[in-house]
Amino acid sequence: MSPPVAQFATRAIHAGQDPNKWIHKAVIPPISLATTFQQFAPAETAGFDYSRSGNPTRQCLEESLASLENAKYALCFASGLASTLSLTYLLKSGDHVICFDDLYGGTNRYFRTCAANMGIDTTFTDMRNIKNIENAIKPNTRMIWIETPTNPTMKMVDIQGVAKMLEHYPEIISVVDNTFMSSYFQKPLTLGAQIVMHSLTKYMNGHSDVVMGAIATNSEEIYEKMKYYQNSLGTVPSPFDCFLVNRGLKTLHLRMERHMQNGQQVAEFLDKHKCVEKVIYPGLKSYPQYELAQKQCTGTSGMVSFYIKGGITEAQKFIKSLKVFILAESLGSIESLAEIPSLMTHASVPNDQREKLGISDNLIRLSVGVESINDLLADLDQALNLSQKS
Ligand SMILES: Cc1ncc(COP(=O)(O)O)c(C=O)c1O
Repeated sequence: MSPPVAQFATRAIHAGQDPNKWIHKAVIPPISLATTFQQFAPAETAGFDYSRSGNPTRQCLEESLASLENAKYALCFASGLASTLSLTYLLKSGDHVICFDDLYGGTNRYFRTCAANMGIDTTFTDMRNIKNIENAIKPNTRMIWIETPTNPTMKMVDIQGVAKMLEHYPEIISVVDNTFMSSYFQKPLTLGAQIVMHSLTKYMNGHSDVVMGAIATNSEEIYEKMKYYQNSLGTVPSPFDCFLVNRGLKTLHLRMERHMQNGQQVAEFLDKHKCVEKVIYPGLKSYPQYELAQKQCTGTSGMVSFYIKGGITEAQKFIKSLKVFILAESLGSIESLAEIPSLMTHASVPNDQREKLGISDNLIRLSVGVESINDLLADLDQALNLSQKS
């Protein structure tokens, strides 16, 4: 069987790792720790010369990622933000970027401060309405940065709709941060985006033990430029981390199905709970963009956000009372996590912007893991009830 035409689970296990690639035929790719590679003659190599420029373990992972995103090419970076930084090297000083106004706090901070220092001008707008994007386009606009669903308020952007609108603007590249849905539930390139970006730290690796990022594309031109920047900026991950992410990807389909099952049950449970004001989850009929979610994604994840009744005191009491959910930043791993975005992941977003986006102090973000659902529901129930006691 040829992996590129096989179905997702088969590709997750086999793509990029044919045992015939190495002499001992190990069924799992070896970790190549060497920083340098013997050459047959000066500049005559067996495919690798120096590990920053190319590494056999990283190459296995990059081939697997490309296959899972229905892409021709993928490249890995030291973190999700290292991917974002490297992607902005596609731009030059004086260029303009349009970003969703509701982004992961670190991406928002990167564009507002670091990219601004490089002379890149950014407009943040509500991309749920494609007209807002079109209205923000300037003669020097060169990139549209989409995150869908957003972190933490789960707003979605119609990727296909944006791609259609951008047909009139061939000089603008669209990037989709696919971290929240993973390659399993959403395929931005198939929907018309030019670049997909991931924090592999989250669902893709799925075990809270690696920080890494990636990009994937079908454009040879973008790939060649990004490969050059990956090497020239040195924003590369370690071979050991590549091995771990490669291993994580082999169970992505199984984990995502369970994250979705648990996420759906948690969302439905919270939706009926007396201590909860409102739940945001793309799998609930009450989700404002339910139809888009059904059209654009093949499932939902374990990310559930909700507003607890009360304010910061109740939110803090709830968080402190949890016994199975762990109070921690990050998301997309096998263990369930809970956090208060206004104090933690999104503390770097200015106050007035947070308020506008709905990131209030009583908003709680859950990353529902793959534990037994009864234990998760019992934990949430006891913590919610304690949150309202004086
Ligand atoms: C949606 C999203 N994109 C990008 C990032 C940045 O990734 P990393 O932490 O791997 O640098 C994060 C991190 O939380 C994220 O949630």
